Order: sequence, then C-alpha cells, then structure tokens
Amino acid sequence: MGKITIAIDGYSSTGKSTIAKQLAKALDYVYIDTGAMYRAVTLYTLRNKLIGEKINDIRAIVKSLSKINLEFTYNPTLGYSEMYLNGENVEKEIRTLEVSKYVSRIAEIKEVREMLVGMQQEMGKVKGIVMDGRDIGTVVFPNAELKVFMTASPAKRAYRRYKELLEKGEEITYEQILKNVQLRDHIDSSREFSPLRKADGAITFDNSDMGLQEQFERLFSYAQRVIETKKGTP
Ligand code: DC
Repeated sequence: MGKITIAIDGYSSTGKSTIAKQLAKALDYVYIDTGAMYRAVTLYTLRNKLIGEKINDIRAIVKSLSKINLEFTYNPTLGYSEMYLNGENVEKEIRTLEVSKYVSRIAEIKEVREMLVGMQQEMGKVKGIVMDGRDIGTVVFPNAELKVFMTASPAKRAYRRYKELLEKGEEITYEQILKNVQLRDHIDSSREFSPLRKADGAITFDNSDMGLQEQFERLFSYAQRVIETKKGTP
C-alpha cells in the first residue's frame, strides 16, 4: 500500500549505493544496484579477453551477451542482495579498480544498455524499490515518484573511494583514483546513449559536506513525504 519507486542517479562515488541501501532497509523496500550489473558484464568481458588495454571487440562483446546470466540474490546476513554472474557470487571481483577502469566503456555499448535496462524495468514492476545508477530517473523509470540526483566534488569523491580501497588492501594512490573518477565522469556524461544527466523532476542532492546520518535523514523524510501524498491515491 502506497509503495513508490525511488530512482537515485549521480556521479560515481557519491555514496549512492550506501544511502540507497539504508533507505531500502528503513522502508522495507528492495534495493537494486544497477552499477553492479554493468560491472558484472565488464568482468565477464575481461575474463573472456573481449576488452583490455589493447582490445575492444564490441561485436564480440555484443555477441557474448546471450551467454551472460545476471542475478541478484538476497544475503540475509548482509541485509542486501549480491550480484551473481552465471551462478557465481562476484561481489568482490566487480569492485576492483581493474573493473572500474573498463566499466564505462562497456556501459557505452547500446546493446548492453538495452539488455540491462530491460532487466531493470522487469525488476521494478513490483513497487517498493530503490534503484541506483546513472539513467534510472531518465530512462529506466522516468515516472518514478521520487528521483534524486546525487553529486559531490570530484576531490571529495576520490578521497572517499581511496579510503574504501585502502581498507580493502588495494595498492593504490589518491591521484590514480582521482584520475579514474574524472575519466568516468567524462565518459558517463558525454556518451551517446543515455548520458548521465539530471532527470526532469529530480532533487539535486550535493553531499560534499554532509555526513551519512544527515544524508539518510533528509532523504528518508523526502521519501516519507512522497509516500504520504501517495496514500489514498489509487
Ligand atoms: O555506480 P557504479 O560506479 O558501480 O557504476 C559503474 C559504471 O557503470 C559507471 O561508470 C557507469 C555505469 N552505469 C551506467 O552507465 N548506468 C547505470 N544505470 C549504472 C552504472
């Protein structure tokens, strides 16, 4: 009753998934990380040597899409769903810098986007969903009741990501991360198909100087207001 669709888009490393997960938990909604889907396709293409430093075999990538099975499986211990690629839990493998380096190139391919958007729209048929990505409010769910566009300065985002990867034990410098963040911003916003942009009706949410708790409280109250106004409508 009164369940809505929440679309969260924005630049990489703005903390979309952290906040989306928290929101979904508090509202008892399903959370879907669409970036994980693009990352899983990238991992598949890297493993099968269809993409790399000197390879970019778009036709072979498109051909291979029929061999890729993606599934989210709920992990009750963690309280959210994890990404499975052809039956294998790839949560850890899809978060490496190697995958981050190539994922924007994969996300530029029209056929990849069509396949993943179709899957996402299918998953969203049940209301009560929080989905984050780059084109959720513009392409996947243009009619979402609540759309959020998250942003933060590149330096802040790079620093957050740097800390995250250091904790995971990756050997990486802040400068490398900043370069990756800037490069991804550029590719994500200038690509031909579904470039990252603020959706009509979306709230801009700049969290450069906001802690997690404050972000959560603000977005939770936005969501509650929208849900409240939906109550009583058919
Ligand atoms: O949110 P993320 O950093 O895990 O996303 C990984 C990449 O996937 C990002 O560079 C852009 C792309 N992406 C996209 O193009 N559309 C989406 N809905 C989600 C992610």
